[in-house]
Amino acid sequence: MSIKVVLLGAGYVATHLAVGLERLKKRLVEPYGIPLANYKLPYKIEDIEIVGVYDVDNSKVGKSLYEIATQVMGSDYPIPEELKKLKVSRGVHRDSTKGMGFSATGLDDVRGVPEAVDVLVSEWLSLKPDVVVNVITTEYGNSYPSKEVAEEYILSGKSPATHVYAYITAKYASKVGQAAFVNAIPTPVANNDGLLNLLEESGVVVFGDDGATGATPLTADILEHMFQRNRKVEFIVQFNIGGNTDFYALTLEDKNKMKEITKSSMVKDILGYETPTYIKPTGYLEPLGDKKYVAMHLEYISFNGFRDSIYINARINDSPALAGILVDLIRIGKIALDRGVRGTVYPVNAFFMKKPGPNNSRNIAKTRAYYELLRWLGLK
Ligand SMILES: NC(=O)c1ccc[n+]([C@@H]2O[C@H](COP(=O)([O-])OP(=O)(O)OC[C@H]3O[C@@H](n4cnc5c(N)ncnc54)[C@H](O)[C@@H]3O)[C@@H](O)[C@H]2O)c1
Repeated sequence: MSIKVVLLGAGYVATHLAVGLERLKKRLVEPYGIPLANYKLPYKIEDIEIVGVYDVDNSKVGKSLYEIATQVMGSDYPIPEELKKLKVSRGVHRDSTKGMGFSATGLDDVRGVPEAVDVLVSEWLSLKPDVVVNVITTEYGNSYPSKEVAEEYILSGKSPATHVYAYITAKYASKVGQAAFVNAIPTPVANNDGLLNLLEESGVVVFGDDGATGATPLTADILEHMFQRNRKVEFIVQFNIGGNTDFYALTLEDKNKMKEITKSSMVKDILGYETPTYIKPTGYLEPLGDKKYVAMHLEYISFNGFRDSIYINARINDSPALAGILVDLIRIGKIALDRGVRGTVYPVNAFFMKKPGPNNSRNIAKTRAYYELLRWLGLK
């Protein structure tokens, strides 16, 4: 029983996921970094099979994931030969790569959005994915008040690429009965009322938005610690500097704004009050590569008015962190479909996402969300 997966975006995260899965299948590595690896789920890690990869970067389309992985991870890294079979297909562009400085073309650039939708739906009808994972470049996007407005914006070419891909998943699901869409980027899908409604009615399970890795879930858990001990947090500073293309993308203002919204949405939800906060992906420095520098500083008032400070400095491999949680999200996506679930699932999003859908959901500490997730999965 395999779980067939289509990846949107052939970048760092997609590459680490594909390489890691093959190495796990051959038992070359332990499944660390996959939160539920030690639980017995109906699907094993080995059941995941990547059947398609889409990008719009002209230097990637047509290449194999093996060639791309060699560029991303270096030719000294043992890239599994199996990835030679996975060729990158051309996806939908919209303006997702604007300002990135590389040449990109989508099917929509040549044939318009409605035709691009038809082409991908028919490709997916032969690939037969159960789960579609969105890891394209972060792009700016708004929410839609209704499914009619969502459809109108998407088909008239006024939406970001993520929304077109979600729409393609809906069209595909309405033909085959069901599909799951994992939105690991900040562009709103699970938090987008109109689009979510459209997806739900078409038979789609949606997880989103923006995979929670690195400093943001750590901050959430530290805030929970402060809340439980009734320590008054005076301020929080948290920033990341990285040298991968995702960090480069975030130097562009509208893309950074999207991340800021998903990153800072948790503070009041967890503490119960507002506190001055600076939580942003702050900069790009190429030599750091994928191993980003994370700094965090917070100050709080303790018993009898005494003030304490916490400082955290870390270097964290960015893309493997997201790839690890995607292994679970893919398996849970299929489990949700088997259970007949449609629309979004808060207990899944609350643990795995920075901005858990549906819209206006509470952000809780990941340490708490973990047990909610186990309950939902029937593991506790
Ligand atoms: N820990 C993490 O790395 C982490 C955590 C949360 C979210 N994310 C999000 O995951 C996404 C991917 O991160 P990454 O490090 O792999 O970035 P990346 O820049 O290496 O990869 C993104 C890929 O998407 C492609 N792309 C851009 N527009 C596209 C489109 N319209 N259709 C298909 N492909 C398109 C790009 O050409 C590129 O190959 C980013 O949006 C990032 O914000 C990453």
